[in-house]
Amino acid sequence: MLTTLKWAAGLASLGPIGVLEIVLTPLVRLAIFVCLLLCSLPATGQEPAAGTAANTATLHADLIDPVTEQKIDELLSKMTLEEKVSQLVQYSVGQPAGPVTGPIDYNDMIQKGEIGSLINVTAARDSNAYQRLAVEKSRLHIPILFGQDVIHGFRTEFPIPLGLASTWDPELVERVARVAAREASATGIRWVFSPMVDIARDARWGRMAEGAGEDPYLGSAMARAYVHGYQGERLSKPDSVAACAKHFVGYGAAEGGRDYNSAEISEHTLREFYLPPFHAAVDAGAASVMTAFESLNGIPASANPFTIKEILRKEWGFRGLVDSDWTSIAELIPHGIANDPATATRKAFLAGVEMDMVSSFYHDNLATLVRSGQVPESDVNQAVRDVLRLKFALGLFEHPYADEKKEATAMLQPDSVALAREVAERSFVLLNNSPSSNGPPVLPLSSDLRHVALIGPLADDAANMLGSWTAKSRPQDVVTLRAALVEKLGAERVHYAKGSEITKGSEEQLAEAVTDAKESDLVILALGEDGPNMTGEAASRAHLGLPGRQEQLLEAIVAAGKPVVLVLFSGRPLTLPWAFAHVPAVLAAWFPGVQAGPALVQTLFGESSPTGKLVVSWPRAVGQEPLYYDALNTGRPAGNADLTKPPWEGSVKYVSRYIDEQDSPQFPFGYGLTYTSFRFGMPQISSTTLSARTLNSDLRDVTRPSNPELTVSADVTNTGTRAGEDTVQLYVRLEGTSTAQPIRALKGFQHVKLAAGETQRVSFRLGPEAFALWDDHNKYDVEPSRVKIWVSPDSAHGSEADLEITK
Ligand code: NOJ
Repeated sequence: MLTTLKWAAGLASLGPIGVLEIVLTPLVRLAIFVCLLLCSLPATGQEPAAGTAANTATLHADLIDPVTEQKIDELLSKMTLEEKVSQLVQYSVGQPAGPVTGPIDYNDMIQKGEIGSLINVTAARDSNAYQRLAVEKSRLHIPILFGQDVIHGFRTEFPIPLGLASTWDPELVERVARVAAREASATGIRWVFSPMVDIARDARWGRMAEGAGEDPYLGSAMARAYVHGYQGERLSKPDSVAACAKHFVGYGAAEGGRDYNSAEISEHTLREFYLPPFHAAVDAGAASVMTAFESLNGIPASANPFTIKEILRKEWGFRGLVDSDWTSIAELIPHGIANDPATATRKAFLAGVEMDMVSSFYHDNLATLVRSGQVPESDVNQAVRDVLRLKFALGLFEHPYADEKKEATAMLQPDSVALAREVAERSFVLLNNSPSSNGPPVLPLSSDLRHVALIGPLADDAANMLGSWTAKSRPQDVVTLRAALVEKLGAERVHYAKGSEITKGSEEQLAEAVTDAKESDLVILALGEDGPNMTGEAASRAHLGLPGRQEQLLEAIVAAGKPVVLVLFSGRPLTLPWAFAHVPAVLAAWFPGVQAGPALVQTLFGESSPTGKLVVSWPRAVGQEPLYYDALNTGRPAGNADLTKPPWEGSVKYVSRYIDEQDSPQFPFGYGLTYTSFRFGMPQISSTTLSARTLNSDLRDVTRPSNPELTVSADVTNTGTRAGEDTVQLYVRLEGTSTAQPIRALKGFQHVKLAAGETQRVSFRLGPEAFALWDDHNKYDVEPSRVKIWVSPDSAHGSEADLEITK
């Protein structure tokens, strides 16, 4: 199959004057492309395709169209080498998103046909002006592809991706991506640098905020959702944008959680944990992939032929475009694998990086490398083909301009704002909710409260609600918690005091807040990080507590003796052991976007119940990082030992533990409370044995109908007095396999809504993928093993069922 793929791809890259060009009838061409389509299905021993067949086929069809290939052939035959290289060149206009580089006079370059893509152009008038130069003035009239970081919304800012993932609701996330696509495309942007599908296991890494957390299964579901949402039914629709799965690959494993730092990831771990969300994005039809900054096992990810050529292209049959990250080609020099720009260019390009984001290295060196024989021109043709294919697929040749009238009406549509509120509500994770003295839990609040003290630097901070990436959103569009609370209770019942700044603060501010707290019936404290400066790119932290004087403020407010609700705004979990021990109600709100205030007020007053669940393990202490639930057991697990005591006080010693902290997280992956409670019954399984042979043959059979191999069910009962919703999670553990497998791995989840007292049987239908692993030969298959299965409310609880996979 792979040989056929290479052969067909080779044919496609021959120019129109090539011999085969003459003999290929349209019918033969069609046959080749059908073959290509089939070849892009996984081959034996590889991870199977994910995503719905219909969607995937349609999206692939955009990138596999014989008529388009013919148009590309024609265009390529007219292009000079310089014009070809120019298609592989990308610059940033206006506000840069990294070190400033590259030429500035884009007008002149565009007219000369020297730029393939521009980023950071966010208004239709501007993109049309550039586009006019390209389409009307350049020799070959090739349109520019405008790309942009549209990470969690364009003008309607939604919660940060970590919050979006905390909904555990891919369908909702797909709708978010659709709105973002609609708004961005109205300005001429047809390519978004999203989704970020990096697995993030270390809360010190600021970019944890931009992804879906630590789990490959949930991360894959989110990856598909974003891709489908952005790309819509067809890329050619004017409101579709091409997705870009980033950062390929292993960026989230930066040592020490320090951004841009090196990562060491074995091939096994790469395949088992870091690659699956990328594979899911590719299978869902993602039109592009961005390479990462870091050095992966000593070879920078932006010059890594193993990950790009072997895995992405050959194994997965990826047909889209591979872009570098910002100056990541120039960074090959400081990485130490190139001593000059020409070598950096050669290494990145030959490794499979097709477009150079802003370093100017391809512009300056690639043609010379071709002329000196160091880079084959056929490789350049292939890369240009991938760029042009995307431009054709997006319909840019027929419709290069944005509709300036539509731009005005596309933004902040009422249904988009309503969605922003809905998704924000579903992103909140309730971490603590106990009574403040005797009586019911603090939340939900009563609307009868007479005097609420609203305290904290984030209570009325519009800009921070937007998180670290703001494509075109503005603080003016945000409704803060303070504004929404005043709207709900009236100004006379809400007493606001800032208490401190995010990173600084004065004694006077603190004293005023304490006085306010003492006079109140209840305090809502809005604390946390600075979204733009302390989360996202280049925002790694060595300390994960509240910044500035906020911990002091928190303790002083609690000491005032009134019930306290702590709303935490952050791009990562924060280590706040004191708060979790002393504050009865704590809600993780992440950075919720334009509807932060209304969503919070709805939730705090119980008009909606929190349903979010953690997608990252919440640490007790920084020293536990990297911390993730799907870890290996080790040879000396601590088991049920009491780790609250050090070994010298009668606890165990020679086990895998810290002497001064528990192993377990403060809150586990998958955790989240709501305003009712649930009981999970014992999981029931449809069979206690499965056969590895049958599972493997089903795993290989791409045409197989989706018959489940096993059904797992459990009764879930709402034991509280309110209706509520829970996300029921299914975890698996495999024992006795050739490679050590995680103590638990998520293999399914579903939402269940139950009236008070209601019981529902929740069933999961598991296919062979639920039991497949990357074995000791880096082959994906099912092995005879002992299996434990949990149906549970999070990754740390629940009862298990046992089964055996025989030969
Ligand atoms: C660098 C970031 O790593 C990447 O995620 C982003 O898309 C580019 N800059 C472009 O702004």
